[in-house]
Amino acid sequence: MQNVEGKVVIITGASSGIGEETARVLAQNGAKLVLSARREERLRALAEELGTERVAYLKSDVSCQEDMQRLVALAKERFGRIDVLFANAGVMPAGNMSELKVKDWLSMVDINIKGVLFSMAAVLPEFTAQRSGQIIVTSSLAGTKSVPGNAVYCGTKHFVRTMLDSFHSESVMEHTNIRTTIIYPGAIKTELLNMVAPSETKQMVEQFYQNVALTPDAIASAVLYAVSQPDNVDISDIVVRPTQEG
Ligand SMILES: NC(=O)c1ccc[n+]([C@@H]2O[C@H](COP(=O)([O-])OP(=O)(O)OC[C@H]3O[C@@H](n4cnc5c(N)ncnc54)[C@H](OP(=O)(O)O)[C@@H]3O)[C@@H](O)[C@H]2O)c1
Repeated sequence: MQNVEGKVVIITGASSGIGEETARVLAQNGAKLVLSARREERLRALAEELGTERVAYLKSDVSCQEDMQRLVALAKERFGRIDVLFANAGVMPAGNMSELKVKDWLSMVDINIKGVLFSMAAVLPEFTAQRSGQIIVTSSLAGTKSVPGNAVYCGTKHFVRTMLDSFHSESVMEHTNIRTTIIYPGAIKTELLNMVAPSETKQMVEQFYQNVALTPDAIASAVLYAVSQPDNVDISDIVVRPTQEG
């Protein structure tokens, strides 16, 4: 596809769900990939499926700044440059604040917020120097409104939205030509709900996902659309939700 062939794309959270399917779709359209997640076996299997000559991977934790620096170093070593960062890794151990699951709150801050920042910090010197690049971040419908039962997650997804939008304005002022895209998925059938503790609410959410959730290719198509635009076209925000989701 136009403007995808040969591009080097880093994907975090590539071992399952949205990241995994996006890797498939971008590879089918000629991109070279550098995959990140903690489950190495999954990354290895995906790289073998897509072809190790065009796919590299690194067992890495987005909440570790050194890991993100190593990821970018691997991309440069294997493919010589980086064109796109898809900062997608995220977790959602949902629950009311009154449950006081402070460890869960902090893991969402570490992964959904710091993970995005560390991956951006690692690629920005490259993008600034080459005066081009694209950063795509997975927010959520929860990043567009206030959602009860998921307050910290909701906050992390608002954070990435506001941060990336402000960064875009800075990039315009600095003439760095860095494109930024925020994706807001609604319900998508992935492993995201696995971390939610069993409860009546979880059962209801699972039932809703069972009935209406989309498959991850709906988001992969949105990422492909954003990447494939000409260099002077910046797709800023894409909301993708099931027709039956409010
Ligand atoms: N599914 C939905 O309905 C939905 C809706 C809105 C937004 N989202 C967002 O979509 C993104 C992708 O999630 P998904 O739905 O595809 O769920 P998923 O299947 O659970 O995928 C999450 C990915 O993030 C990775 N990850 C988690 N913690 C990590 C860490 N510390 N370091 C590196 N990688 C880490 C996981 O890999 P490892 O465990 O192997 O590290 C996995 O590859 C998330 O940001 C999520 O918030 C999902």
